[in-house]
Amino acid sequence: MKTDLEGIRIGYADEGKGAPVVLLHGFPFRREIWRSPMDALKGSRRVIAPDLCGFGESAPRPGAVPMDRFAGDVHALLQQLGTGPVALVGHSMGGYVALAFARRFPRMLRGLALVATRAGADAPEAAAARRATAEKVRAQGVGVVVEAMAPKMLSPASQDPALAERTRRFMAPLEPQGVIGALLGMADRPDATPGLAGISVPSLAITGADDVLIPAAESERMARAIRGARLEILPGAGHLVFLEQPEAFNRALNEWLDSCDATP
Ligand code: MLT
Repeated sequence: MKTDLEGIRIGYADEGKGAPVVLLHGFPFRREIWRSPMDALKGSRRVIAPDLCGFGESAPRPGAVPMDRFAGDVHALLQQLGTGPVALVGHSMGGYVALAFARRFPRMLRGLALVATRAGADAPEAAAARRATAEKVRAQGVGVVVEAMAPKMLSPASQDPALAERTRRFMAPLEPQGVIGALLGMADRPDATPGLAGISVPSLAITGADDVLIPAAESERMARAIRGARLEILPGAGHLVFLEQPEAFNRALNEWLDSCDATP
């Protein structure tokens, strides 16, 4: 489906009926990467998965796109769809956006699941490397990002060629403007750690034990900082934990969603 938010075209999926769950994809992906959890959940819930602006079917915005801007787009979409408060799931960059959403729109949140992500800002050298990558994308195209990231997405122990191929497909098609905007927005993002103690909805931090992009220790840190948060570190999975261990992931997600439903 597609809609217009402040003149920007936004693509999204809206499937199933029931309490709303929103899935935010990571970088440099699009909503279709959530197909397995979407299929697992849509029998009992309304599952909404937007393409963040500049990815998939959503048009890019000019310049750096702050995580707050992505969060504002998600909020505007949910207002348009009339969902009321949602259980929000964010993978990696989608997790940065979910944390920005939690800070800006706490009353729209029934639960928060942070998947293979971190609360902290980039260290100065990581931020500088992202800005340098944005320059390379401008000069050489999006292949720079795909070639750098694709090999790091899956657990080194479980490099399944078919899954590696699917992973690359979820990175296409990619627009330079979208990639550059997200890279610059991530480089500038503030530290979300101080806000963790104020999160009062049922929360889950879940990741793969072998994530080489964002170590599992980051999920442990977030789970310690959010009151009552569950922590799941799944063996045999890396950064794309929901593709590498779909059954264990979907089970953990369902348990967390049950706890969201049980909370008034
Ligand atoms: C992602 O998967 O969204 C990225 O690895 C996040 C990042 O580069 O920090």
